[in-house]
Amino acid sequence: MQQIAHDVLILGTGLAGLRAAVELCIRTRGSADIGIVSKVQVMRSHSVCAEGGTGAVMRPEEGDSFELHAWDTVKGSDFLADQDTVFRFVNTSPDEIRLLEHWGVPWSRREDGRIMQRPFGGHSFPRACMAADKTGFFEMQALYDNLLKYRSFTRYDECFVTSMLLEDGRFAGLTLFDAPTGEFYILRGKALLIASGGLGNLYGFTTYSQTVTGDGHAIAYRAGLPLEDPEFLQFHPTGLVPSGILMTEGCRGEGGYLRNNRGERFMEKYAPKMMELAPRDIVSRSEMTEILEGRGFPGPDGLDYIQLDLTHLGAERINKRLPLIREVCIKFLGIDPITEPIPIRPVAHYSMGGIEADIDGRTRVENIWAAGEVACHSMHGANRLGCNSTAECLVWGGITGTEIAKYLAQDPKLSALPEAKARDEEQRVFGGLLRQSGTENPAHIRRELRTLMDRHAGVYRTGESMREGLEKIRGLRERFRRISIQDKSRVYNSNLLQALETENMLELAEVLLFAGLAREESRGAHSRTDFPRRDDEKFLQHSMVYWTGGAPKLEYKPVTITAWKPVERKY
Ligand code: FUM
Repeated sequence: MQQIAHDVLILGTGLAGLRAAVELCIRTRGSADIGIVSKVQVMRSHSVCAEGGTGAVMRPEEGDSFELHAWDTVKGSDFLADQDTVFRFVNTSPDEIRLLEHWGVPWSRREDGRIMQRPFGGHSFPRACMAADKTGFFEMQALYDNLLKYRSFTRYDECFVTSMLLEDGRFAGLTLFDAPTGEFYILRGKALLIASGGLGNLYGFTTYSQTVTGDGHAIAYRAGLPLEDPEFLQFHPTGLVPSGILMTEGCRGEGGYLRNNRGERFMEKYAPKMMELAPRDIVSRSEMTEILEGRGFPGPDGLDYIQLDLTHLGAERINKRLPLIREVCIKFLGIDPITEPIPIRPVAHYSMGGIEADIDGRTRVENIWAAGEVACHSMHGANRLGCNSTAECLVWGGITGTEIAKYLAQDPKLSALPEAKARDEEQRVFGGLLRQSGTENPAHIRRELRTLMDRHAGVYRTGESMREGLEKIRGLRERFRRISIQDKSRVYNSNLLQALETENMLELAEVLLFAGLAREESRGAHSRTDFPRRDDEKFLQHSMVYWTGGAPKLEYKPVTITAWKPVERKY
């Protein structure tokens, strides 16, 4: 089997992966040989969809402070965030904003020429630096343009990684299916950065691109890296009905209202101080309560919705600050938000958990780092604040790029390659999965899985419903053994790729529900009607889920508390 070696492999070309690649090039003066692998093409990574902004303290002289940003983040996390990590984050993110300014991001500006910041949920100061409502797109473009200054990287676009090879507890290589050629080969590296993004396509109603299927999580998990806090899945309060497309929190940051079918701004009942700009877990629960108590509007998909009302903002503000939102509403629904309210409901948006990584982004395997949404640096705890995600990608892209450059300076060698494992993997994919001719269609299994997750692991959960969901997932996994892949060729075999994704999704769905069932409390985005209170005695801990080959294994680890003990969350 063909082998290609680089100094470093970066898996994923979103904000975290590109930021790390640029940092590595800078730190090593372009001497590190980097392989950048993605199952899509660079500018199709899901980070381009980030809309509302990137959070940072930019105005200490106007009253903001690192302490305030840290406090908002810790309180928003329902006290599950590691506070040392949060402080590192808030101290670093302003530098990232300034760097991107120099690298070409056209930040929206105030009248005085300074970078504009809009209010975002759970923040007690306007902190979201934005480029209208296309922030992720411009950040990605600036990073990619910068990376192109260097010649020391090779891109492996449209390459699907099927497994991670470890030898003697160290990273050795990735097995990879190159979609355009149909070849299967091994990429070797002295170090690996996993920056492969989220897993939100486990859900049917989601803001994510179809490509976001948790592949990086799944290969790391199967290789022995634990997944931390997987039960904390964020529902963004404003997903467009019925498509799920993100209606940025910037809509409410600019002054938008949420209304029920009586025309009431119902958030005054649930978060009288912050209203529509309470943290996402609270706003999503409030919307669902309104819907469940009959105060929603009947939706085209048979489910009720809430209205996001921007009509009082005026055409000029909407055109200037929310042009994408307006365009999407017109194109997808024929609704102009200047004159009509937008139908929305809570939508799967972000995974607070991920591959366990320390404050430097290092995983339990010495030469593997993780950054961005796939990683869990324990920074968001049980609920992330809006605009802290793109910032986190940039901060830990920079940190992991720096750390890997330091590691390379020690002149490490490539690890021995477990070739037999690589051959087994090729056999599993092409000899097994592709050839088998069962009766089950993987696309149907995927669709059923996503519907099931919407039903059994939504905004509100119960033990009974999660248990039922888990049983059903195990049934789907059983059925997956009997799939048949129609296209038997190798080149651009999207049937095969989607089957591999579905296999990963099934694994991760089980992990999410398994950890959720064990957490018998309500905290942040994990809201159980059978255990409605937070239980700090038992569950002020991070869940750690390990792959065993059979049922997952669950352990807990303590939360790092340096500044603030948990108190009741009121907004
Ligand atoms: O609403 C938004 O624009 C999303 C931002 C985020 O998830 O941080």
